[in-house]
Amino acid sequence: MNKFYITTPIYYVNSYPHLGSAYTTVAADVLARFHRMRGEEVFFLTGTDEHGSKVAEAAAQKKTEPQKLCDQVTAKYEEVWDTLKISYNYFIRTTDSQHAQTVRYFLNSLKEKGLIYKGQYQGLYCLGCERYYTEKELVDGQCPFHKKKPISFSEECYFFKLSAFQEKLLKLIRSQKLIIEPQERRNELLSFLERNQLEDLAVSRANVKWGIPLPWDSQQTAYVWIDALLNYLSGLGWQGDSQKISDFWPPDVQLLGKDILRFHLVIWPALLLALDIPLPRRLYVHGFFTINGQKMGKSLGNALDPEKMAEVFGVDALRWLMLSSFPFGQDGDISQSKFYDQYQAQLANGLGNLFRRVLTLAAKSDQDFTPPQKEEKKIIKILQQTWKIYEKSLDDLKFEAAIESVRKVIAEADRYVDQNKPWELLKKDFSRYQEVIYHLLEILRHLGWLIRPFMPDKSDLIFKGLNLELAEKKKSLIQGKKWGGTIFSPTPLEEILFPRL
Ligand code: MSP
Repeated sequence: MNKFYITTPIYYVNSYPHLGSAYTTVAADVLARFHRMRGEEVFFLTGTDEHGSKVAEAAAQKKTEPQKLCDQVTAKYEEVWDTLKISYNYFIRTTDSQHAQTVRYFLNSLKEKGLIYKGQYQGLYCLGCERYYTEKELVDGQCPFHKKKPISFSEECYFFKLSAFQEKLLKLIRSQKLIIEPQERRNELLSFLERNQLEDLAVSRANVKWGIPLPWDSQQTAYVWIDALLNYLSGLGWQGDSQKISDFWPPDVQLLGKDILRFHLVIWPALLLALDIPLPRRLYVHGFFTINGQKMGKSLGNALDPEKMAEVFGVDALRWLMLSSFPFGQDGDISQSKFYDQYQAQLANGLGNLFRRVLTLAAKSDQDFTPPQKEEKKIIKILQQTWKIYEKSLDDLKFEAAIESVRKVIAEADRYVDQNKPWELLKKDFSRYQEVIYHLLEILRHLGWLIRPFMPDKSDLIFKGLNLELAEKKKSLIQGKKWGGTIFSPTPLEEILFPRL
């Protein structure tokens, strides 16, 4: 069975999840469900990033212990992910002892290879990002993401010879052996690597106590980003005790937001190269949810609460709306009222209305609907093409394009109803009425499959309305996306697929 390993970044626990944090995770979940639907064995990893000065400071401010804050915020993440139906296979916490073991092993191995040395670091440090900035990278003397002036810092610490990997990285990216998407991000990184000399990276901190102590110097803790990146290995249970990591390694897709691009596209592959570990197959950098052009986040106080949004729209619809608004690789402005308009147009008046209309029309007959002699070639062709576009779009992480292809099927079905007027056929031409309804039921069955990775419960409801709940779930996708062959005896439902808001 084909294996598919997908990861999200792990989330900082200095604040609660917001809709922007949920963006990466919902996208990853749709992909995970899509690959499972295809019959692949999926390992979907997410979790929390719990060490470092940012978390220690947040705990101090709340007059609590860092571990307590971590437990509390992680519990909230797990709760929100459950609400959003995130089907992760493992939730990694960097305070797990098992993870610490991986980090210690990894750092020791780097040291044994002569890639770690002791030095003095002096620089401008942004607490928000947990990283040093060069003067050039600042905007008006401030961190471009947190809009705060970094603090000046000097400390003794250990360095990783990151600079030794510049040429290798360049070669791998140029030869497409390391795939970075979208194209603009790959080009951006290439031009950064071509124009700048990589500096070695400080991988430990003497002044941060809330972290994993270095195996050879307990006065220093591992730099939180090194600690965090290694979750992608420890999350698979790898503790460095054997060469083989897992059948799932390397990751098929790693998702990340553009604010953490350098860590994932430079430091992460360099760390893996250092230990001769195979690189991820694909790193995908997505854009931000913005509110009036500003990144949604806790620091700007403009964050939307995913649980509240789920109460308003329902979880399935929210998942759909989050991915339908704009291309995944770009930034996009969102708001509750935009979601409201999309909900009405795409879901309540679109899919929901079609579903109700077809089931009501089908209920006018007490006979089963069997595959007719005459098939509408045009409809069959449209569905075949839709499946092609849909699968290709999801392979390319073009969620919005996959959604668009589904919306076209809904529009086509609406047109088919309007053209054929089955309510008139019922009186005039019963066998044509049966033919038309058969096609509509079969379209609904396909829609049940097409929406499944995005809206798993609504997909169940469609199958339930078609009286095929068990039958469809037993099928593989290959069987599910075939046209015809089904005998329908639908049951009108009490539930409304997408209630008006
Ligand atoms: N802890 C680090 C990641 C370590 S991974 C080895 C981190 N955490 S985070 O909580 O700040 O962000 C997690 C993810 O959420 C990132 O991919 C980030 O880009 C994403 N988002 C946070 N706000 C976002 C939006 N407003 N919109 C879309 N994604 C955003 O970074």
